Amino acid sequence: MHFSSVIVSPILLLQFCIRTLCNLWSSVFLNVRRPSDDSTILPDGKAEQTATVPTSVNYHFTRKCNYKCGFCFHTAKTSFVLPLEEAKRGLELLKDAGMEKINFSGGEPFLHEKGDFLGKLVQFCKQDLQLPSVSIVSNGSMIQERWFQKYGDYLDILAISCDSFNEDTNQLIGRAQGKKSHIENLYKIRGWCARYKVAFKINTVVNTFNVDEDMQENINKLDPVRWKVFQCLLIDGENAGEEALREAERFVIRDLQFQDFLERHSSVTCLVPESNEKMRNSYLILDEYMRFLDCREGRKDPSKSILDVGVREAILFSGFDEKMFLRRGGKYVWSKADMKLEW
Ligand SMILES: C[S@@+](CC[C@H](N)C(=O)[O-])C[C@H]1O[C@@H](n2cnc3c(N)ncnc32)[C@H](O)[C@@H]1O
Ligand code: SF4
Repeated sequence: MHFSSVIVSPILLLQFCIRTLCNLWSSVFLNVRRPSDDSTILPDGKAEQTATVPTSVNYHFTRKCNYKCGFCFHTAKTSFVLPLEEAKRGLELLKDAGMEKINFSGGEPFLHEKGDFLGKLVQFCKQDLQLPSVSIVSNGSMIQERWFQKYGDYLDILAISCDSFNEDTNQLIGRAQGKKSHIENLYKIRGWCARYKVAFKINTVVNTFNVDEDMQENINKLDPVRWKVFQCLLIDGENAGEEALREAERFVIRDLQFQDFLERHSSVTCLVPESNEKMRNSYLILDEYMRFLDCREGRKDPSKSILDVGVREAILFSGFDEKMFLRRGGKYVWSKADMKLEW
């Protein structure tokens, strides 16, 4: 080897050292996520938002409902429902962005096309998109056994809302259609969930009408995999304020009353409490146009639709608090295959 190729000029050596130092600096200081937010520091000093992954999404595809719960925070402000193929396209975009769990909600999700629209989406999400978890939250009043026969295989979890085991209280809340028994129906659906191997869950909103109730006996009998207990929440433009379709102020309870309710039911091991603080920003909510709804200001501010701008851009306006999502136990065993249930 010729000596001149090994000896490097002092200028080249200096350039090499500067470049190495620069590389070292950028690998240490760039791409470091700030602990306080989800941003990355760019070379020009500006912050770039790191994309939130929509791991678990709640798609309220309809706002229409056959019940009149006085505290409802997702009201019938429109009657719009996306065409099936557009809804599927949106779900595929979410899957490509990292969605693992979809929850269909409303309004009442079993109302549109007598549950067939919902069934087709459930089947699509499990069979075509292969999502680990597909769930529904419903008031239960429109569900029929033939729905389970057709679509039960594709559904992991069915949550039925029940705020009281006293029919009069349900009537007072508005959690009823005519004189039909919400509670009898709840027990019937519990049986179908067992027969068709769907994990059964209960949601309860604690409010002024049920705050003193003791639900232990019924909950133990129904034996859900999870009992979500929410503190009644106010959302401006939905159940509070001038433009709202509901006035839920008279349903609101204090934090201490909520704590009392939780203590009374502390023996129920499947109980998962959700105070107002935990609930407000810890859900990724999509409305009927597939727009994320940002609840940080106490109302539901919509983003652009994921169908128009994609998930990555729309999700920047979702107001989603991922830390709170994890803190409230948002990520749990959510595939029925992993639940080791005795059907
Ligand atoms: C908006 S509902 C839609 C699904 C279905 N209609 C039902 O009632 O289950 C979704 C869930 O939100 C709960 N919810 C409604 N209004 C609420 C409020 N003001 N505070 C807390 N949870 C509420 C319901 O009880 C239900 O479990
Ligand atoms: S909370 Fe009641 S009124 Fe609201 S969507 Fe559900 S069943 Fe309907």
